[in-house]
Amino acid sequence: MGKSETLAVAVAVAGQGRAYSGYRLRDLQNAAPTNLEILRTGPGTPMGEYMRRYWQPVCLSQELTDVPKAIRILHEDLVAFRDRQGNVGVLHRKCAHRGASLEFGIVQERGIRCCYHGWHFDVDGSLLEAPAEPPDTKLKDTVCQGAYPAFERDGLVFAYMGPADRRPEFPVFDGYVLPKGTRLIPFSNVFDCNWLQVYENQIDHYHTALLHNNMTVAGVDAKLADGATLQGGFGEMPIVDWHPTDDNNGMIFTAGRRLSDDEVWIRISQMGLPNWMQNAAIVAAAPQRHSGPAMSRWQVPVDDEHSIAFGWRHFNDEVDPEHRGREEECGVDKIDFLIGQTRHRPYEETQRVPGDYEAIVSQGPIALHGLEHPGRSDVGVYMCRSLLRDAVAGKAPPDPVRAKAEAGGGQTLPRYTSDSRLRIRRRTSREADSDVIRKAAHQVFAIMKECDELPVAQRRPHVLRRLDEIEASL
Ligand code: FES
Ligand SMILES: [Fe+2]
Repeated sequence: MGKSETLAVAVAVAGQGRAYSGYRLRDLQNAAPTNLEILRTGPGTPMGEYMRRYWQPVCLSQELTDVPKAIRILHEDLVAFRDRQGNVGVLHRKCAHRGASLEFGIVQERGIRCCYHGWHFDVDGSLLEAPAEPPDTKLKDTVCQGAYPAFERDGLVFAYMGPADRRPEFPVFDGYVLPKGTRLIPFSNVFDCNWLQVYENQIDHYHTALLHNNMTVAGVDAKLADGATLQGGFGEMPIVDWHPTDDNNGMIFTAGRRLSDDEVWIRISQMGLPNWMQNAAIVAAAPQRHSGPAMSRWQVPVDDEHSIAFGWRHFNDEVDPEHRGREEECGVDKIDFLIGQTRHRPYEETQRVPGDYEAIVSQGPIALHGLEHPGRSDVGVYMCRSLLRDAVAGKAPPDPVRAKAEAGGGQTLPRYTSDSRLRIRRRTSREADSDVIRKAAHQVFAIMKECDELPVAQRRPHVLRRLDEIEASL
């Protein structure tokens, strides 16, 4: 960041009186962005190259029809398609011949054909045919269309846009396949702003008790208010701690809330560098004894001032026993939880019931870190920036997924994302109660880490047994 820059702003204001300082502070609003090394993601930029070392979702499977789909990812204009054999292609959009856009191309049995002179490319970019050229043309040996490896999984199309020799395994977490019967429903969510401020919103646990609490929906009719707020404990200010993972490739945050005189709720969220996030239950229902992820998301840059969250909502009886989630409301630029996630609302409604979209995008096309005045509640956001800065400076250790794959491969990674509900009686003083909630949160996190060494089938029984032990000890 720019801790020194924030301090500089604070110092500039100090001593001159803080009341009615609009005229004096006016020009600060036009300050230049800082932290550009983690905000910019174009080709050749530190963050852009770092993000290209990971599989990134680029569109939804349902967007691949009988015509190609023009997409823009990490500042690159691309075209995605599924040929009639079912293979997915993600190619540079401009044809290698003379630059016509392949969004007007014709999907073939194998690959795609440019509309202009009929050059026919396979999904790997190989030139298969150039019909206007003589039969003995050597073009096929010398020319190819830029192409990226791609595959589909549970309704999302993933591409790898980095160097071929650095391609990692796609990380599969046990929360993608468990509990049995889990359905992953794809969605996207378009934001007209830089990727990082959207990502930071997902790390910021305090805003749920404020932005999404009743205090911001006074006067709104009941139907709208019900869909705009989170209940079941979300209205409580959480006791939050952030923990970099042991390998510094991500961050875990624990949030403890008291539900009643007898019960507390421990929520663990997981962030994986550079742009992946997983959250536990998100519909307005009381958390269960122990449940896993309800949403996995990647915040993917389109360019420096636009980004798209691609992800899955997880549907199963464990994370949503009352079936309040709505699969049919997840899809292209739509998601089924909380009003205010997308840009599709009337302006007046956004003023009366602002949501995540309004809060995030109104920070500006690129949020100005140098003008912020961070507090204790922003520790997680600043820790995230610090991890990212270290990563793009080459200080991050090797990708843990690749390391695991090389060490044996094929295993599903343990997820820490979870909700747990524990019987812990309220302590008499507020301070003592906060302490016991924090202690419980750390112990639940420790239990989740114990699962690192366990086979997939033993993880849940182990957690349930250890939760009983925590209750007995607290
Ligand atoms: S521009 Fe594509 S075939 Fe000529
Ligand atoms: Fe939110």
